[in-house]
Amino acid sequence: MELQTDYMGLKLKNPIVASACPLTKDLDRVKEMEESGVAGIILPSLFEEEISYDQHAMDQFLNYSTHSVGSEATSFFPEPENFKNFEGEEYLESLRRIKASVGIPIIGSLNGSTAGGWVKYAKLIQEAGADALELNIFFIPTEVNLTGAEVENRYVEILKLVKAQVSIPVAIKMTPFFSSIGNMAKRFDDAGANGLVLFNRFQGPDFDLDKLEAAMKPSFSTHSDIRLPLHWTAILFGKVKASLAATRGIKSGIDVLKMIMAGADATMITSLFYQEGVYCASRIIKEMTHWMEEHEYQSIRQMKGSMSYIHVADKSAFVRANYMKMLRAI
Ligand SMILES: Cc1cc2nc3c(=O)[nH]c(=O)nc-3n(C[C@H](O)[C@H](O)[C@H](O)COP(=O)(O)O)c2cc1C
Repeated sequence: MELQTDYMGLKLKNPIVASACPLTKDLDRVKEMEESGVAGIILPSLFEEEISYDQHAMDQFLNYSTHSVGSEATSFFPEPENFKNFEGEEYLESLRRIKASVGIPIIGSLNGSTAGGWVKYAKLIQEAGADALELNIFFIPTEVNLTGAEVENRYVEILKLVKAQVSIPVAIKMTPFFSSIGNMAKRFDDAGANGLVLFNRFQGPDFDLDKLEAAMKPSFSTHSDIRLPLHWTAILFGKVKASLAATRGIKSGIDVLKMIMAGADATMITSLFYQEGVYCASRIIKEMTHWMEEHEYQSIRQMKGSMSYIHVADKSAFVRANYMKMLRAI
């Protein structure tokens, strides 16, 4: 059975990629994932705030020194551009360590929301040995006067800045909260994105009524979360040059095959590693090969996009008509 797939030019032995989360920074967990068949790893995100925090502290220190003891004092301290960022350094070090210890492709991840100096970490991540980079632009437009067009331009601008830093492939992990997902996919494609990851799973705050506070509590996906990326992978297949990766709610080999038939080049999993353990990939691979054997498929390549919007005869399942039919059938 040929399970190999090509994601943004990376050769993966099968479509299963461990998506960004703290587990993928832990070398022992990563080795276990590789042993169980995981074909690629995305490191947890390095956040803009983590990169900027130390830089900001240094800038403040330099300003303080200038005002309090005269400008010569600053010459005792490193230039801001030589100043080591501790979070960033630790990130690069664990990337180097993981890259040196496993044979599967390693993808770095940057998470930010402004067109700022933090994007230089894209280059440092490349230099530390990453095979590719995933960019997660996570911006919550709470200002009601900000237009959709302004928000969209900001996303594209950040992507272009990151692309200008590196020669490795760059994927953008998309939010589904654009009014025209297809048009944004095309704009990212035109701006040089090598991959589109559908979709980032937004974790909104919960309310703690005893403390009268909004609190962030991480939650894991459920199986029904698969529907949104399945739908949009199927719609976008064949309409963009970028590779497609599907993530959210994948729990079984059948789920992986559905995403492949929708048009995904790679399928990305996080919650299941926490819910079932890092060895779940071997079960998923068994389920995939079993189904493929039973249905006489020889390769993933053969299946890719076979149930996408451009390939299915009855397109009603992808649009309004099907929703109406479903509600009437209840
Ligand atoms: C505990 C946890 C940590 C995560 N950390 C990150 C992160 O650092 N960067 C990122 O882009 N996504 C992060 N994610 C999102 C996952 O990479 C993934 O896209 C999402 O959970 C959907 O996949 P799933 O349904 O298999 O969980 C995290 C998710 C979880 C549950």
